[in-house]
Amino acid sequence: MSKPRYLTGITTTGTPHLGNYVGAIRPAVASSQEQSIDSFYFLADYHSLIKSYDASALKQSSKEIAATWLAFGLNTDNAVFYRQSDIPEIPELTWMLTCVAAKGLMNRAHAYKAAVADNEEHGERDADKGITMGLFSYPILMAADILMFKANKIPVGRDQIQHVEMARDIAARFNHHFGEHLVLPEAVVDDNVAVLNGLDGRKMSKSYNNTIPLFEPPKRLRKLIMKIKTNSLEPGEPKQPDGCTLFQIFRAFATAEQTEAVRQLYADGIAWGEMKQMLFEHLDGILSEPRERYEELMAKPEIMEDILLAGAERARQYSVPLMQDLRSAIGLGDLAK
Ligand code: TRP
Repeated sequence: MSKPRYLTGITTTGTPHLGNYVGAIRPAVASSQEQSIDSFYFLADYHSLIKSYDASALKQSSKEIAATWLAFGLNTDNAVFYRQSDIPEIPELTWMLTCVAAKGLMNRAHAYKAAVADNEEHGERDADKGITMGLFSYPILMAADILMFKANKIPVGRDQIQHVEMARDIAARFNHHFGEHLVLPEAVVDDNVAVLNGLDGRKMSKSYNNTIPLFEPPKRLRKLIMKIKTNSLEPGEPKQPDGCTLFQIFRAFATAEQTEAVRQLYADGIAWGEMKQMLFEHLDGILSEPRERYEELMAKPEIMEDILLAGAERARQYSVPLMQDLRSAIGLGDLAK
């Protein structure tokens, strides 16, 4: 039996934070070590163009994200690690898929619907105001990412399940018209993976501006942790760990025994200041080694560039032949054949 193939991408906007690490980077690094699965990981840099037109921010974020994956030990011998924009077959497949994807399907994509709802809320006469075709057809680009490599399993957060289902739908339509060329993918959502809260207690997310970046210098990291919102219980008063952001973050980085010990400290009425200091020391202990590697990589981006180009070469061993098949299945190309 052939190995299951996992694929996932990270959009290159913003600086990787604790929530990204726990939710996506840590599981991806772990599966990159597994010989029993094939894995494909990539920087979704075309996706970032949907959200921002800031060229230097895009480059900076691409560097930070690549350095983060590598600093945590992504196994790039086993996993294929590449940059989306190094694979010219992806935009080519995107167009083919665009021509079979139903517009009505895209109308239902939640990012587009949210943008329309936002316009309506603000009383705009044009519900599509400010919405680009990039945002509208973003699920098709994502479908091309997935279908290009015949991936079966797509580890994603809940917000992305809809997109993986759209990729399935689009693949099935393509196959219906042109034969069984594309593999239908399936989203994999790991319920054991924690979704972390941010400084203000809402979900940690770059769009809420409440994140704790992974590789801040220790002093900055401490300062951010000190800012995490808590309730106003006094030292000595018993506290409830469940629902507490400090506890939740601690637990995501701790063993079961360490977690139980902290639960007890809550019951004993640990002071918030003390708990914050402990969380800082715990995180700093875990992050200091990868932080060093991260800083080395950020100082030498040519190392990352070489790794990404080697990854693109491997990725294209899949994408080039698939596109040859698809071109001929569609009726493009050589007139003499
Ligand atoms: N859209 C995904 C996100 O914002 C990133 C992404 C792009 C992706 N292409 C993908 C994820 C393909 C999984 C598979 O999180």
